[in-house]
Amino acid sequence: MRRIGILTGGGDCPGLNAAIRAVVRTAVGRHKWEVLGFRDGWRGVMDGDVRDLTLESVQGILHRGGTILGSSGANPYLEGGADRIRSNCRDLDVDALIVIGGEGTLGAAARMADEGLPLIGIPKTIDNDLSGTDYCIGFHTAVQIATDAIDRLHSTAESHNRLMLVEVMGRSAGWIALYSGLAGGADMIMIPERPFDLDEVGMHLRHRHLNGHSFSIVVVAEGATPVEGTMDLPQYPRDPRGFTRFGGIAHHLAPVLEEKTGFETRVTVIGHVQRGGTPNADDRILATRFGVAATDLVAHARWGRMVALRGSEVVDIPLSDAAKVRPVPEELYRVAGVFFDS
Ligand code: F6P
Repeated sequence: MRRIGILTGGGDCPGLNAAIRAVVRTAVGRHKWEVLGFRDGWRGVMDGDVRDLTLESVQGILHRGGTILGSSGANPYLEGGADRIRSNCRDLDVDALIVIGGEGTLGAAARMADEGLPLIGIPKTIDNDLSGTDYCIGFHTAVQIATDAIDRLHSTAESHNRLMLVEVMGRSAGWIALYSGLAGGADMIMIPERPFDLDEVGMHLRHRHLNGHSFSIVVVAEGATPVEGTMDLPQYPRDPRGFTRFGGIAHHLAPVLEEKTGFETRVTVIGHVQRGGTPNADDRILATRFGVAATDLVAHARWGRMVALRGSEVVDIPLSDAAKVRPVPEELYRVAGVFFDS
């Protein structure tokens, strides 16, 4: 092993730089390898667009959000780029890749690994919806940002006797909604795993106000859907790769809830603020542990594996087990439900 490559793909998140730093420090400092950083995820590998990553170039980035390598949703299998990836790795003398990504980026990595490319995966997504790991890089920070927003909304909601609808990210799973809703004391949480019926939600909120409460906080994940046949939501637009571009469901629900409850309703969509800025301590530590562990897996040639957190242990699992959605378990939603009832 002389030279490895690293890339960050998919939506960015806080903690990516901490992972890049950990990989470079382990690879260069401990193993005496060289590290090349590919720009903009798989796009950089397909185009051979690289920069050297030295100990100096990762100085001072531990606490910085975003990714110094850039990111994109490029996917070699949607863009006919798998052969270019193999030949670029050969031409650049890259012996192995460390791929930091979510479902799409790691799905492509699993397939490239099956076809013989030596690589290791690191899970990141604020949505926290990858199978096989308890947490992904970025989730803890996103939850903190959403919780801070809910805390702030509480005081203004109280003053004006209102319903506050807070929309958070989570396209296929409601991890951010569930965690921030629990931490922020939400009165109702709507997630993709549990289709909602606005008649029931409205009834529940009216009941709560009849019990003497003057305001309610409702957290809704962007990917939440109504029980079939209860209401129509407009079609979301698609991004250039054909994937649904979520965002804005709260604006559709607010007038309906206002009508059903009679309570004035206001909407806050937290949006990309959840993905921006400084990673919190949990994400820095998780990213650092994952970066060191992934580089050690390269040293042991454990190709096609992904580092994962199980309990408090960092383990490794087959990449193919990870690149599928992990829903919020029923048990967690039941915990949240205790606080919807009064
Ligand atoms: O996958 C993470 C995520 O934050 C989703 O929750 C959200 O739908 C998506 O990224 C938005 O990403 P972008 O605006 O970069 O396409």
